[in-house]
Amino acid sequence: MAAFDPWDPDFLADPYPSYAELRARGRVQYFEPTDQWLVPLHADVSALLRDRRLGRTYQHRFTHEDFGRTAPAPEHEPFHTLNDHGMLDLEPPDHTRIRRLVSKAFTPRTVERLKPYVSRLAGELVDGLVRNGGGDLLTDVAEPLPVAVIAEMLGIPEADRAPLRPWSADICGMYELNPSQETAARAVRASVEFSDYLRELIAERRKEPGDDLISGLIEAHDEGDRLTEQEMISTAVLLLNAGHEATVNATVNGWYALFRNPAQLAALRADHSLVPTAIEELMRYDTPLQLFERWVLDEIEIDGTTIPRGAEIAMLFGSANHDPAVFENPDRLDLTRRDNPHISFSAGIHYCIGAPLARIELAASMTALLERAPALTLAAEPDRKPNFVIRGLEGLRVEVG
Ligand code: HEM
Repeated sequence: MAAFDPWDPDFLADPYPSYAELRARGRVQYFEPTDQWLVPLHADVSALLRDRRLGRTYQHRFTHEDFGRTAPAPEHEPFHTLNDHGMLDLEPPDHTRIRRLVSKAFTPRTVERLKPYVSRLAGELVDGLVRNGGGDLLTDVAEPLPVAVIAEMLGIPEADRAPLRPWSADICGMYELNPSQETAARAVRASVEFSDYLRELIAERRKEPGDDLISGLIEAHDEGDRLTEQEMISTAVLLLNAGHEATVNATVNGWYALFRNPAQLAALRADHSLVPTAIEELMRYDTPLQLFERWVLDEIEIDGTTIPRGAEIAMLFGSANHDPAVFENPDRLDLTRRDNPHISFSAGIHYCIGAPLARIELAASMTALLERAPALTLAAEPDRKPNFVIRGLEGLRVEVG
């Protein structure tokens, strides 16, 4: 299957024409290199995300042996222990219990209160970029904003924040397709260090609680024994990683798309009230997280193909977001697009808990850049990260103009 080659730099540069070919071939196709069933259509992805016959994990119902899979290598255990106790890799009832606790901190109303802080921070970061006449939009604005916001919410002291990005990057390497031994070793090291750090921080907060989310989780744990220590650590890591990784990429992918579509950028500069629809459209147009997987817990059928228990489905979010059955002129960037049911934040029980926060952060950095750097230009063609699932750039050099 030449249409789908997630390791080919040409595919990574622009996967969307290949997706069109995949969609034309049918609703489901087996992909041997990863032993997965690819699903490229919006209607199917949207339905499967809500289908309880599928799960992010199977371990709540089956052993590895039952499922025809091998247990992870013992030397990779620290990564799996960390990952498997976060809500993203849990299914009900554990998922429900943890999500209910954490969701209080992320309701649209709670997050709305963070708006002035996020806007102020975005303004300060953009002012720094302007003072230097330009720089790297990734390291100067896109990255420090969501890292500071999520670290602040969790109560990670400023002096401790430097390793958060490298830990996250090393752990996220495991979410790519067929990760190498070297990637796994890096993820294990980061999992051990990150977990040790949080275990100590939790011990400190237990002695001296603050009004941060970690103290809140401890309180819930101590009052009703509703979170184990491992779940607390895994929740904190998930929030810290998921809380910035995709937002960083959405920001730089979005600005790179704007620079390549100068008429759209000009329209946005002329009318800042387009910011909310622009953010949704940029997340659809160049989808920050391209693929999500589900295990088949109970046999399903797609378009006459039976997919048995134990198989794995790979839902192609980037393809679903360019499906012409749902989006008119899907390969056209249209910042005024109103009917935009993109799937970038997922759907069903794992729908992104941080979506309201991500939207506030993306709006804050975009508004600050439009207002304070109104003639921003691309200074050099960026290098793309060699990743498929987490789609991003190595950097984005800009000049203030
Ligand atoms: C543009 C930015 C973001 C994008 C595109 C994004 C996307 C997603 C997606 C697609 C999922 C579900 C994956 C699946 O169904 O398998 C998800 C889940 C999640 N996201 Fe986000 N996310 C973003 C920002 C954030 C932020 C800022 C946070 C802050 C805390 C966050 C926290 C989470 C968590 C905790 C989950 C797991 C939810 C669950 O399993 O119930 N995300 N995100």
